[in-house]
Order: sequence, then structure tokens, then C-alpha cells
Amino acid sequence: MARTQVAIIGAGPSGLLLSQLLHLQGIDNVVLERQSREHVAGRIRAGVLEQGSVDVLLQAQVGERLLNERLVHDGFALGFAGRSFRVDLKGLTGEAVSVYGQTEITKDLTEARIAAGAKLFFDARDVAIGGIDTAHPTVRYAHGGRTQELSCDFIAGCDGYHGVCRRSVPAQAMQSFERIYPFGWLGIMADVPPVSQELIYSNHERGFALCSMRSARRSRYYLQCGLDEPLEAWPDARFWDELRRRLPPQVGETLITGASIEKSIAPLRSFVVEPMKFGRLFLLGDAAHIVPPTGAKGLNLAAADARMLHQALAHYYRTGSTESIDRYSELCLRRVWKAVRFSWWFTTLTHKFSEDPFSHRLQLAELDYLTGSRAALTSMAENYVGLPFGEPPLARSR
Ligand code: APR
Ligand code: PHB
Repeated sequence: MARTQVAIIGAGPSGLLLSQLLHLQGIDNVVLERQSREHVAGRIRAGVLEQGSVDVLLQAQVGERLLNERLVHDGFALGFAGRSFRVDLKGLTGEAVSVYGQTEITKDLTEARIAAGAKLFFDARDVAIGGIDTAHPTVRYAHGGRTQELSCDFIAGCDGYHGVCRRSVPAQAMQSFERIYPFGWLGIMADVPPVSQELIYSNHERGFALCSMRSARRSRYYLQCGLDEPLEAWPDARFWDELRRRLPPQVGETLITGASIEKSIAPLRSFVVEPMKFGRLFLLGDAAHIVPPTGAKGLNLAAADARMLHQALAHYYRTGSTESIDRYSELCLRRVWKAVRFSWWFTTLTHKFSEDPFSHRLQLAELDYLTGSRAALTSMAENYVGLPFGEPPLARSR
């Protein structure tokens, strides 16, 4: 039976980043991904990185293209009541965020792993994990038409929300928390210049809209939509019309439209599982938590989990002490819940939940308060740019 120190299930951002960070610490690992390399590389996902995520990608030695091609954003705009208000992230927190697609990060990490001779297997089917509550976990999978078996010290479940790892834990050993939102996001990508140089999150009585981008020539736009709306109901012309209506008029007037190169609908949910560790299985990223995309936190949480786990495993292999790995779940969850709260709050502030005009008036009052209060804006901005990594400073001084 083949052997490795850490078996990583899933080659999304959390699995690939963990693999690379462990490799740089001299920790042997194998990555098993169900999909093909092309499929993983073609997925369009998030696009905003906290500075902490940029730092860990630099630490992982995959930051070169990121630093060259990212767009640094010192702020974003809130659209509401027909106007646009700029949130000065840099002025309020001293920090900025970076716009760089998850697709590109996945590509950079995959190339780095392959160049370093990683044991990274795409098209690995029927992954089944066992012995996670023993000192010798195992992974079975099918690859190249043959059943393979791997023994390891630890398993990292980086296999997303629908993966096999979380489902392998006895139900009574984990508790999950969930909120489903009564709407989805309809997203399109188009090779047109962005309507604004910074992102715009727009509250409108017809529903939420978001203007984002991937580059100076590629725009990413989203509209809040019904969960049961078929994609066919949204030809490009209807999308652009609706987007224009949901933006402050002076912004909508300058919108440049074009043919979409991708269009999809995603549901919104908040989900957390506790603890994020069972025996010798750790859960990372979307396997452990999902946030609605409004706060741009999903990818950043995945990167923070990988950073936390590689530090904990490095400490374990260096010292033999399990102290750090035992605290993995607790330390991750404190950060996760704050991001869950922020993403829920930002979603609640900007989306249409009902036809009730009272609720919309409350949102407008909160937006008016927020944009008139430096204290409230600072609170929002420090959550958006990313909360400190590791143990919260106040907790440490107790
Ligand atoms: N066996 C092997 N691989 C699997 C299995 C399985 N049974 N199930 C799922 N996978 C793979 C998926 O094909 C996918 O490539 O695990 C990977 C999980 O990747 P992501 O879903 O991207 O999750 P993660 O790496 O945690 O990254 C979270 O992705 O969805 C966004 O907003 C989210 O930006 C965040 C990031
Ligand atoms: C994106 O560009 O895909 C994006 C940006 C900001 C968000 C969510 C998604 O909050």
C-alpha cells in the first residue's frame, strides 16, 4: 500500500494551497481530485483577496503572476437610494484588497505543484476514507481503471460542500448550522470594460446587483434572482437592462454591454460544521463552511484554513506535540463565524427579502446611518479587508 504523511482530498484552492504549503515544509502529501484538470481550471468562482490571503500565496511561492496582474482596490462603492457612496477601505483600515480570480489562483497553484513533482491525481474516482478515528487512516480510490489504496497520518478534507469527507464523520460527532436564503445570484462574465474602477454593491427595490471585474477589459456582474428562474429566462439583453435599472442612474448610464462568455445561477447559503476536525480528519474551506458571496469571504476563509492547518501540522511533525492540531478547529471557527456573521449582515443589508416596504425602509435607514458614521464604516471596512489571522489579540491577553 502506498504511504504519505497527509492525504488531501480535493484540488480546489484549499487543497492545492495546503499541498504547496506542506511541501515547502518538507511534509509529504498526495492530492486526489475527482474532476479533470481542465474542469477544475475552467470553474469561475470568487475574485477578491484579503491582504492576508495574498500574503499566504506569496509564502506559498505562487504570488508572482498575482502581484503582476492583480488590481489593487482601495475602496468599493455602495449604491442605494439612487446614489453611490464610496467606502474608503484604505483610509479606514490602512489596507486594500486585491482583485484576482480564483480561476487564476487555481491555475498558478496547479502549475507550481506539478513543477515541484507533486503527487496530484486528477480524475480520482470513488474516493472513500477510513480509519479516521485511528492512528492510521486510509484512502481508497479508483484511478486509471484501478483501485488504489493509500495509508497516511492525516486526511485533509478539501473536497467542498458536496464532498465525501464531511459525510464520512459519524452524524453525532458533528453539528451543522445552516441558513438558506430565498434567492440566488445570476452571474455573467463579459469582455467589456468594468462600469467602474471599483466594485459596486447596489441595494435596489428591484433586488441586489454587484459590479465586479477580473481585469480592465473583463467584467463580472451579478443580479439577485429567484431560485427557480431558468437561465433561459435571462438572455443577455434582459440581464443588461435589469442591471442598468438596479444601479444608481449616473452609473447605469455609463454601462458598456456585450456578449456574455459565461452565465450561471448560484444559490446563497450560510453553513458551518462544528468541529472542523474528527480524529485524524481535518475539514477545510467549503467542506466545513459556506458563506453567501456578498462579503467575498469564501476563498479567503479557505486560504486561512490551509494556512492554519499547515502551521499546525508543521508544529506536530517538528515537535511531536499535538497541541496545535488539537486547536485547529477552535481557532478556525472563531474566524469562520465572524465571516459568517459579516456575510449574513451584508447580504441582509443589500438584498430584497420580501415585497414589504417597511423592510426596505429599514435597509435604507441602516445604509444612511452606515455611510454617515465613521465608526460604522470602519467596522464594515475592517471585516471586508479581513480580520486578523490566528488568535484574536484580546483573547490572547486574557
Ligand atoms: N473526491 C475527490 N475530490 C472531490 C470530491 C471527492 N469525492 N468531491 C469534491 N471534490 C473536489 C471538487 O471537484 C473540487 O475541485 O474538491 C474540490 C473542492 O474545491 P472547492 O469547491 O473550490 O472548495 P475549496 O477548495 O474549499 O475552496 C473554497 O471555492 O466555492 C468557492 O467560494 C468558495 O472561494 C471558495 C472556495
Ligand atoms: C466576484 O468578482 O466574483 C465577486 C466579487 C465580490 C463579491 C463576490 C464575488 O462579494
